[in-house]
Amino acid sequence: MTYILGIESSCDETAAAVVIDGKTIASNIVASQIDLHAKHGGVFPELASRAHVEAIDSVVDQAVNDAGIAYEQIDAIAVTQGPGLVGSLLVGINYAKGLALMSGKPLLGINHLEGHIYSLWLTQPFAEPEFPVLVLIVSGGHSELLLMTGHGQYQRLGGTIDDAAGEAFDKVGRLLNLPFPGGPNIERVAKMGNAHAYDFPRALRDSSYDFSFSGLKTAVRREVTVPPSGSRSRRRRGAEKRAQLRSDVSVNDVAASFQVAVTDILVEKAARAAKAYGATEIFMAGGVSANQLLREKMRKETDLPVRYPPLNLCTDNGAMIAAAGYFRYEAGLRSDLSFDVLPTWPL
Ligand code: KG4
Ligand code: ZN
Repeated sequence: MTYILGIESSCDETAAAVVIDGKTIASNIVASQIDLHAKHGGVFPELASRAHVEAIDSVVDQAVNDAGIAYEQIDAIAVTQGPGLVGSLLVGINYAKGLALMSGKPLLGINHLEGHIYSLWLTQPFAEPEFPVLVLIVSGGHSELLLMTGHGQYQRLGGTIDDAAGEAFDKVGRLLNLPFPGGPNIERVAKMGNAHAYDFPRALRDSSYDFSFSGLKTAVRREVTVPPSGSRSRRRRGAEKRAQLRSDVSVNDVAASFQVAVTDILVEKAARAAKAYGATEIFMAGGVSANQLLREKMRKETDLPVRYPPLNLCTDNGAMIAAAGYFRYEAGLRSDLSFDVLPTWPL
């Protein structure tokens, strides 16, 4: 049995997990900073790194304890190297390096996006896919369409040219005065709304495999807010925060119409790419893949099998980093102790 310790601190979760043979979760600890960032309506980088520093020691310790193993039994340490917030990434990386140095265990720097993909390997029961697989990663920081042709082998087909899908959910959530993060809260109120109430734009519909969500967010803002008064510079500085919801707007209808616009475009492009590249399956991962409408539409609109992680593995966690680490470890890959953060590391 191979035990990989996975450490994740790229954004607003301090997370650690122990995974056996890349598939079985022995422990999975996530210390979320949602409450900390909620009052700012988004992730505040300096607060995030400070909170990681405070949490990391006990999170890793708990992961090892919960797995029922001693530190000596760990075969390798996998840690998120990027992409993400520099200050946050550094906390996890430096901690992992310290552990590796003390214990002499091998160290593996993992791409966070690859981690999201390997969260699929943690679903039970698991059957190894036949490659190529079409992968849609949709999270707070990323919207990527990739063709996975083998373990660790990816061809990027497209991605967002502005906001990520999750970021759009979070920004629209803020416009609608919903709690942070916007994604799950928009999904919750959308259930009570009419998805046909507003016809929001679907950008780049027929061209490429790229996404654009910033126009959609702007269209929602125009529709639902009272135009701010005051000087232009004042308006620019705090437009989103100060935007006032029009009294005749149904939050539920806007949420439902927005959600359907985002999921339409994600599903359309993923289904088209899967067909064009002869994919055998569609894999979805990342925080937005928790969205039930997205899951349902993806299943309906393609005749390929669709997989997504269990809800607790959609958002950031250490188990996915450990799972990705296992495949790198088995392939004989190792990271040098001197490796650096890669805040904008494409897959
Ligand atoms: O993967 P993740 O934890 O962080 C990044 O790597 O960015 O994803 C967090 C994102 C947030 O933007 C959140 O609003 C979104 O995932 N999210 C959802 C849902 N649950 C989380 N978006 C839509 N529907 C959901 N149910
Ligand atoms: Zn993520």
